[in-house]
Amino acid sequence: MSRISVFFLLCFSVYGIDSEDKARLRKVLKPFFTTVKENPDYLKKNAAKVELGKALFFDTRLSKNSDISCNSCHDLQQYGTNGVHYKKMLEDGTAFRDVPSIYNLNSMELFNWDGSQKDLYAQVKQSLTHESEMAMDEITLIDRLKKVEGYKSLFEKAYPDKAGVSYENVVDSLVVFLNGLVTPSPVDRFIDGDDSQLTDEQIVGGQLFDSKNCYTCHTGSNFGGQMMQKMGAIEPWPNRKDQGYFHVTKNPAHKMIFRVSPLRNIEKTPPYFHDGTSTRIWDTIKKMGRYEMGIYISISDILKMQSFLKSFSGELDQEYIKEPSIPE
Ligand code: HEC
Ligand code: HEC
Repeated sequence: MSRISVFFLLCFSVYGIDSEDKARLRKVLKPFFTTVKENPDYLKKNAAKVELGKALFFDTRLSKNSDISCNSCHDLQQYGTNGVHYKKMLEDGTAFRDVPSIYNLNSMELFNWDGSQKDLYAQVKQSLTHESEMAMDEITLIDRLKKVEGYKSLFEKAYPDKAGVSYENVVDSLVVFLNGLVTPSPVDRFIDGDDSQLTDEQIVGGQLFDSKNCYTCHTGSNFGGQMMQKMGAIEPWPNRKDQGYFHVTKNPAHKMIFRVSPLRNIEKTPPYFHDGTSTRIWDTIKKMGRYEMGIYISISDILKMQSFLKSFSGELDQEYIKEPSIPE
């Protein structure tokens, strides 16, 4: 017998998964998860706005000190985060919260760790002006961009009917660019009917994710991003420096309320949690059991769930995210 068939035999004997188990898991997932698909027409339809939005995304002139771009923190090659930059910010004492991914935002309902923004336009405006992101103001920004010859034609092409270099057009083109960032993954193709996309271990992990009720919070197309919950619902979260939504509303009922994190590309986006206090997926699952649910999850179950979460890792569209030349 070849090594490969021994491997498959072992898989069968370990998990005993058959096509009915797969069909059952698909039935559980399907009502809650709209699958992410490649969208080749998106770029064609929005080419001029995407070109402008991408140039702005990579341009350091959008930050107060002209030293960082959106891509410095939300590195598109690193699934929209940047663990190294975050670590440096932690050391400098300038880190506010861990940098969240910015892929698959087109179906997101709440933005930021504390869920304080409800739509992507408002979010992008905040990202441009927030002290912990670009720290820019509207007037300086438009002044700067107007002086760049190369932007004139990009703005005119993208917005022929609307007043050229304007704040609204900056925000809109960034939103259009961000909305095109999608990462179709094995779990999407599984939900859409392809049994071969998940390993048997991942199927068992998916069943556990269901039976342990992770779906009650991590639901929707991004396995999260749809609701607010108390961080430390059962046992107080150890790090209480950041009080989440309370930070925005000052309402004591909002202490430690955070957005349920989306879990797409989780494998690619360490560290984890708003405070970056986990660097391994298995550790996040253990902590979820303890602080969020008050249950002990065995290491063997944790590893199966971790394996399931890895099926949320999607493919990057290299053409779409290719670094542009910055207008001069
Ligand atoms: C210095 C690092 C940094 C830079 C630069 C930066 N961001 Fe962010 N971004 C963050 C952090 C940290 C958060 C989370 C803030 C929070 O939870 O309150 C965030 C949140 C976001 C979100 C919400 C994502 C989600 O999952 O809810 C979007 C969208 C976003 N930023 C877009 C941008 C854009 C567009 C730019 C450039 C105009 C930008 N950011 C520049 C660090 C940065
Ligand atoms: C009561 C709601 C709730 C339940 C149930 C729940 N979670 Fe969470 N989960 C959250 C919240 C809220 C966060 C965001 C925490 C933060 O702000 O750092 C989170 C964060 C996570 C993260 C880290 C994401 C990141 O990018 O940092 C992972 C992984 C995760 N949960 C997995 C699970 C798993 C696996 C289960 C089931 C064992 C589960 N969760 C059950 C509410 C929940």
